Amino acid sequence: MALDQQAQPSSFFITTPIFYVNDAPHIGHAYTEVAADVLARWHRQAGDDTWFLTGTDEHGQKILRTATANGVAPKEWADRLVESAWKPLLDTIDLSNDDFIRTTDARHEEGVAKFLQKLYDDGHVYAGEFEALYCVGCEEFKPKSEIVDGEGAFAGEKVCAIHSKPLELLQEKNYFFKMSAFQERLLALYEERPDFVQPASARNEVIAFVQQGLEDLSISRTSFDWGIPIPWDSSHVTYVWFDALLNYVTATGYGADAAQFERRWPATHIVGKDILRFHAVIWPAMLMAAGLEVPRNVFAHGWLLVGGEKMSKSKLTGIAPNEITDTFGSDAFRYYFMRAISFGHDGSFSWEDLAARYQAELANGFGNLASRVLAMNQKYFEGRVPQAGSDEQPADAAIRELAADVAARADERISAFAIHEAIAAVWELVDALNGYITEQEPWALAKDPAQRDRLASVLYTTTEGLRVLAELLAPVIPQAAAKLWAALGAEEALGALEAQPIREAGRWGRLVAGTEQQRIAVLFPRIEIDGEGK
Ligand code: ME8
Ligand code: MG
Repeated sequence: MALDQQAQPSSFFITTPIFYVNDAPHIGHAYTEVAADVLARWHRQAGDDTWFLTGTDEHGQKILRTATANGVAPKEWADRLVESAWKPLLDTIDLSNDDFIRTTDARHEEGVAKFLQKLYDDGHVYAGEFEALYCVGCEEFKPKSEIVDGEGAFAGEKVCAIHSKPLELLQEKNYFFKMSAFQERLLALYEERPDFVQPASARNEVIAFVQQGLEDLSISRTSFDWGIPIPWDSSHVTYVWFDALLNYVTATGYGADAAQFERRWPATHIVGKDILRFHAVIWPAMLMAAGLEVPRNVFAHGWLLVGGEKMSKSKLTGIAPNEITDTFGSDAFRYYFMRAISFGHDGSFSWEDLAARYQAELANGFGNLASRVLAMNQKYFEGRVPQAGSDEQPADAAIRELAADVAARADERISAFAIHEAIAAVWELVDALNGYITEQEPWALAKDPAQRDRLASVLYTTTEGLRVLAELLAPVIPQAAAKLWAALGAEEALGALEAQPIREAGRWGRLVAGTEQQRIAVLFPRIEIDGEGK
């Protein structure tokens, strides 16, 4: 066989933002993490050369102030938060990240210094004087459109439109990145690659912003020292966003491991819409200046709203992820946020909606289907996959065809970042299998020895349907899917669930008759909800 017939797996490098360690994570951060994880698991299972990066953003004034207020050095504070809160989150919501970068890692600090030096040497950086209104919550000099008049305690002051807190007038000698020089190239990028910024609403916002005119970007600070020193002038530290954005390349070998960088870059960035401009404007301009490829995609998702407001730590509406997972489990957390919210739009969280979907969709819809089918195989076929008869009925064919159809559609929807629609497509099969069982009444067929073949066909169809579901749902509800996979006997017969090529999940007949199955524990047990809305 010619070597070139073996297609190279395509590279898929996906990232989340790196989160500030001024506080512990809430479900908004977990939401981004889960979305990126579902995409990563899907692509990994599809055989793509996948790399999933997440991490923490540890420099800057916001962290410094929080640490100081708590009476500890900033690095000590960051270590504490990373170990006690941010790394444990990975387990809480069952993330499959390949790497975790901290901006205090030596690999990152070295990469940032190299990148800055290159921009400086190539004439993209100059020294200047600057005075503007800064929001420490955003870690940003605010554009006019986001400066509003304060209310209540802050009446008479200028406040940040996002944080509703007073802005600080800063005057410093800074180094500037000549970002304005990239305005036309950025506009050309958005034009030539309409899918570069997604969804379309985000793209439009970015284009409108850049069309207003880009200013140069202040990239250093002198009034505090919690940051990466500017390599040619150690009286300055690097602006925290300039530092943070570079994590995506310093984690993948920039300036240190050319082969790794070549293999991973460019990335698909999943971010919240609050930080869209940094990723879709500043970041590609930085990369262009350095002569590197721009990202593959920047996808901005919406906000989780609680009581109609963006959930946030600063407004004290944060819910810790384990408040949900302790009761419902990590699979339910993942399923709920991915299914109930249109990815790319805002969505409201409520305990009632979570509990209702848990019961209707996970427990009654999916879990119960798995239990019933496996129990019937136990009862009627000694716990083995039955042998389908040769006379396929239209109802059986409909299930077989639907399985192929939803598998193809789900993969297409995932590639378009429509995670909620991919899950909805898969759920058509859950519903169809439940309907099929109701119609075919296998328990009635079992009473008639003349219908033995028909019973076998019906149970083969439902069992194979479960096999398809386990493969397609593994990226979303990995724990339940793995339990189902083992109970189906598929682990023995077909190998590890993660190794099943997801783009072939819809190919019918992979589960072989006679395969020994196991009893399955209840996948989504009933949960008693107490009277306090939780
Ligand atoms: O901005 N709904 O970090 P951050 C949905 N360090 N997502 C939410 C959310 C909500 N209510 N609240 C937070 C930073 N998020 C920088 C990023 S990247 C180079 C540097 C998620 O800790 C969402 O992904 O403020 C949002 O973009 C991110 O948390 C902001 O996290
Ligand atoms: Mg924030």
